[in-house]
Amino acid sequence: MKFFIDTANLEQIKEAQDLGILDGVTTNPSLMAKEGISGAEAIKQHYKTICEIVDGDISAEVLSTTYEEMIKEGEELAAIHPNIVVKIPMIKDGVKALKYFSDKGIKTNCTLIFSAGQALLAAKAGATYVSPFLGRLDDISTDGLNLIEEIRTIYNNYMYDTEILAASIRSPMHIINCAKIGADVITSPLPSILALLKHPLTDLGLAQFVADAKKLG
Ligand code: G3P
Repeated sequence: MKFFIDTANLEQIKEAQDLGILDGVTTNPSLMAKEGISGAEAIKQHYKTICEIVDGDISAEVLSTTYEEMIKEGEELAAIHPNIVVKIPMIKDGVKALKYFSDKGIKTNCTLIFSAGQALLAAKAGATYVSPFLGRLDDISTDGLNLIEEIRTIYNNYMYDTEILAASIRSPMHIINCAKIGADVITSPLPSILALLKHPLTDLGLAQFVADAKKLG
């Protein structure tokens, strides 16, 4: 399973990269705004900087919602760096844009996936990744993991190449359950990734080993 970090924060991206387990980065307009990035040139420069830190797929989301505008914007984003993946919303014009980019060999990530039908359409249109939003489904009392399972079954049935990129991760258990189901990728905030490290018995055991090591001379 690939690990992406879901942030536009350069310090957190560097920290995950330093850990040696990072395969890519996802961003969205809300995450960019959180970092105070604004204006087309500043946004492009920020993506370029992320691409220089991480050697993996970097999702850059279009801000427009019509087919023509998404094509123009997506082509500009794809020109920033070969690792840029154009992130497109699951709307009618978005499906058309996915097909356009797929035919041109440009990688895409179809975002805002909340149903198996949407994931099926995105795969038919040739999306490289689909991003089902686990946490936001859980927020409305709907089992987000169930959606990941449904998409896994459908993609396996027809051997779609589209990768399931589980998004809107809120906890280390989300990551573990996605791995059990067979999601291809998880994209997570840094704290949930770091939480995978922790176990009190590891800390206790290490403290004992360090104490005993001192007796060894
Ligand atoms: O990047 C898309 C997704 O991961 C957003 O997560 O926490 O805003 O629902 P969240």
